[in-house]
Order: sequence, then structure tokens, then C-alpha cells
Amino acid sequence: MSKDTFEENQRRHRLDDDDRVWLFGYGSLIYLVDFPYLESRPASISGWSRRFWQGSHDHRGTEENPGRVVTLIEEAGAICGGMAYLVEAPVFRQLDLREKNGYLRVATAMTFDDGAQATGLTYIATPDNEAYLGEADEYEIAHHICGAAGPSGPNDEYLLELANALRELGLHDQHVFDIEAHILRIGKA
Ligand code: SIN
Repeated sequence: MSKDTFEENQRRHRLDDDDRVWLFGYGSLIYLVDFPYLESRPASISGWSRRFWQGSHDHRGTEENPGRVVTLIEEAGAICGGMAYLVEAPVFRQLDLREKNGYLRVATAMTFDDGAQATGLTYIATPDNEAYLGEADEYEIAHHICGAAGPSGPNDEYLLELANALRELGLHDQHVFDIEAHILRIGKA
């Protein structure tokens, strides 16, 4: 699959302009909210884990030196917490551009913090996209992140802002927090 998924996403989930759709964000969509929305609520999805296994050529890295950003990996019993936004359908054009580096819109069930449920969309970068980097241990990922930067800023800023946003939501993510601890040690070295 091409690493520019914009056109593919525009063809998926044909939406009418007056549709209102829940978007589940689990990475930068939690803390970098540069799109209009009608309502936001903390939420989670089941059966997925957040992992820094996706390459970033257009935001936190370059073609020559990609950064590492999060995607979702299927894992039985896992729960991934994040933020849900109710958006008007035309906003997906802007979101599809932002998430074009390998992410595909996928329909998902989500549970809000009060237990209510809804169906919505989330962006997932699957292992068959060209920008996918795959598994590495948290120490290796931290070193990779410390050596990358792109048009949206340094790669470590993405991780540190995500870790802070998760803490503010009262969420614990061992993978993210372990990488954060390594990065803070590398910074002090
Ligand atoms: C997301 O935040 O939900 C997708 C990944 C990202 O844009 O960082």
C-alpha cells in the first residue's frame, strides 16, 4: 500500500456533508487539536494497543530520516485510552491530509468515560503501509526518536506531549512512559 493514503481515505466511508461522526484520537490527535469539533469526550477502544511502530516522513521526520509515531496494534484484551471528538463530515478532508502518511480510517466501537458507547472512526497505520517501521524495544525507539525531526517539529516533542496528555487524562501507558523515561535520560546524558 502506498504511504500516501489521502485518496484511499477520501474513497472510504462516503459521508454526507451534514453527517456528524465521532473520531477517536490516540496519538497527536489527543494533544494537537487543529481541527474544528462540536464536542470532545475521553474514550477508549478495546482490542488495540498504542505503539511507536509507524514511520513519519511528513510530520516528525523526513523521507531520508523518518521519525517514529504511534499506530494501533491488535492485542486481545488490551484497552487503548484517548480522546473522542464529534466532527462534521467535511472535517475529514483536513484530517485525511494530516494523517496521509500511511494511516487508514477504520470504523471502531468506542466507550466514553461514563460507559456510554458509540461507533466512530480512527486512523490506523497497518503493517502493510510503506512507512511502517515495526516493532523495536523502548530503548531503541527512544534513541530513534531523539535523532529525528520533521516539518511539524522534533520527534521527541511528539512523544513528550503525548505522555503529558495521557497523564492529564489519568491514563497509564507503559510503552509510552518507558520511552519517555529513556528520552529524559538521554537528554540528561
Ligand atoms: C491519532 O492521533 O489518533 C493518530 C496518530 C497521530 O496522528 O499521531
